[in-house]
Amino acid sequence: MIDINGKVAFLTGAAEGLGREIARELVAGGMRVAMVDVQGEKLTALAEELRADGADVLPLVVDLADPVAAADAVELALAHYGTPRVLIHNAAVLKEVSMLDVTFEDWRREVDIILGAAYALTKTVWPHMVQARDGSIVFLSSGSALFGFVKETAYTPGKHAQEGLMKVLALEGKEHNIAVNTTSTGRPIDTPMSDSHYTEEMRIGIVPPSRLAPAFAFLAGIDADFATGQRFNAYQLSEAIRVTRG
Ligand SMILES: NC(=O)c1ccc[n+]([C@@H]2O[C@H](COP(=O)([O-])OP(=O)(O)OC[C@H]3O[C@@H](n4cnc5c(N)ncnc54)[C@H](O)[C@@H]3O)[C@@H](O)[C@H]2O)c1
Repeated sequence: MIDINGKVAFLTGAAEGLGREIARELVAGGMRVAMVDVQGEKLTALAEELRADGADVLPLVVDLADPVAAADAVELALAHYGTPRVLIHNAAVLKEVSMLDVTFEDWRREVDIILGAAYALTKTVWPHMVQARDGSIVFLSSGSALFGFVKETAYTPGKHAQEGLMKVLALEGKEHNIAVNTTSTGRPIDTPMSDSHYTEEMRIGIVPPSRLAPAFAFLAGIDADFATGQRFNAYQLSEAIRVTRG
């Protein structure tokens, strides 16, 4: 385990939902954080909140559906902070559309945010982590990475493929001491994404996203020798950390 205090994190989807809580947790652990999101106003508000508490954060307004823009954002963050200890790709969109109604453009956009950005962000940061012989990469997974759900024409295949990318990168990263893992949420979380998709039944056991955040500070400090190629459960890991902290 590596002490994350003073180290650098690159985080996507930071403006709201789970990403915002991950940003707060990483900053609380002393990390400097490059925060990427397409929602400029909310991202700026978060950056102002965190800076008011003395944090060193870099907000980057980027549409991750564009792989060139995603790579450019990483280059900016690299120029500003240097090689990150952790890359967390948390951003995603979920649109429920049947095969009859989906357009290729909409399908492609969703897959590009989930999978294309996972590739573009990792591809840009990878040689720097290889050179440093150090790093942790985390992709946000979902039950949709294991099962199919009605009308998740793009989200389910995107999340499945992201798991596949993680497994391949974990094999390649081992000799470079780069840990590559995914996390399921483990519980439904109360976020804008859930607000627009969850039925009352699906909200059973729902928890605030802050309950999952400790897992990400923990994963920011692991190396490949500790765990790679794994699918962590963010809720369970966070609860275990909370119990251990007392
Ligand atoms: N909400 C749940 O219960 C749940 C369950 C399983 C998995 N997940 C996963 O957890 C992660 C976080 O989910 P959430 O519920 O916080 O989602 P959310 O929709 O509440 O937040 C997602 C964030 O990603 C950003 N984003 C979306 N498209 C973007 C783009 N093109 N470029 C840059 N940023 C973009 C949004 O602006 C937002 O800040 C996602 O990967 C999601 O698939 C969530």
